[in-house]
Amino acid sequence: MKNYLSIADIDSLPNWIKEARSLKRNPNADKALGTNKTIGLLFFNNSLRTRLSTQKAAMNLGMEVMVMNFGNEGWALEYGDGTIMDQGTSEHIKEAAQVISQYCDIIAIRAFASLTDKVKDEAEEVLNGFKQYASVPIVNMESSTGHPLQALADAITLAEHNTKDRPKVVLSWAPHPKALPHAVANSFVQMMQLQDADFVITHPEGYELDPNITKDATIEYDQKKAFENADFVYAKNWSSYSHYGMVLNQDTDWMITKDKLGDAKFMHCLPVRRNVIVEDSVLDSKQSLVIEEANNRTYAAQLVLKKILENLE
Ligand code: CP
Repeated sequence: MKNYLSIADIDSLPNWIKEARSLKRNPNADKALGTNKTIGLLFFNNSLRTRLSTQKAAMNLGMEVMVMNFGNEGWALEYGDGTIMDQGTSEHIKEAAQVISQYCDIIAIRAFASLTDKVKDEAEEVLNGFKQYASVPIVNMESSTGHPLQALADAITLAEHNTKDRPKVVLSWAPHPKALPHAVANSFVQMMQLQDADFVITHPEGYELDPNITKDATIEYDQKKAFENADFVYAKNWSSYSHYGMVLNQDTDWMITKDKLGDAKFMHCLPVRRNVIVEDSVLDSKQSLVIEEANNRTYAAQLVLKKILENLE
């Protein structure tokens, strides 16, 4: 594999889950693979899990890791072709990507959506800029439209806890005071499209995700109905897609409660706002898989880096 940019880069989800679970059982088996190789982790936005789990994954593979908080510490990058750079940007992606490629064998990037300019966000100018001008593989650590490392970790977690041939999995919108991106929900939907499951998305009207991503997924506007016989409930807030980046609804009735959850397992990518997205009694119960999802971020990242390292000349 050359790059890991989206769920579309997974050639066989069942095989990947199997391989990741094998890595989890023996995480130090491939230490020699990354010896004398360096990964650069570039963060244009905050992170806890992605930063530490990707670093841990690289260390498990014997790699050196360099981390840069690009948003605070790097020069402001220009992405436009032919721009007269007499305003706020100091360095062009053309130079930056080529320079970083001299220091790193793999570049991993986190760059969230602006939520103010849909066209620009969907163009993925940071991720695609690095892909275009870097000479080394690129890994998406959450971009404007996708978080494929999270979705891979979620797939591993689902596999570990599923007991049925065809489980019912519900992706539920939940309230949040701030406008949040669609990336986690998008990649979760795309990952579920590779699974044999009864998959339902539930959200208030006006919160439809990009129809090019949801395709023919079942959408149920009644959360209670959606949760009937659910085996897994994956909660996430996202802002409106049609009224791009707007918070249309903060209806606290959409919060996930123990009562609503029934016997289903609870999933969330974290960080999570307690008693806003989900009540304490869910997170503090055995039904919550959130800590294991975070644990599986290491093995999702390790599998991706392993596949890229195996493909390096
Ligand atoms: N789930 C996730 O990506 O967490 P961080 O934002 O802390 O990296």
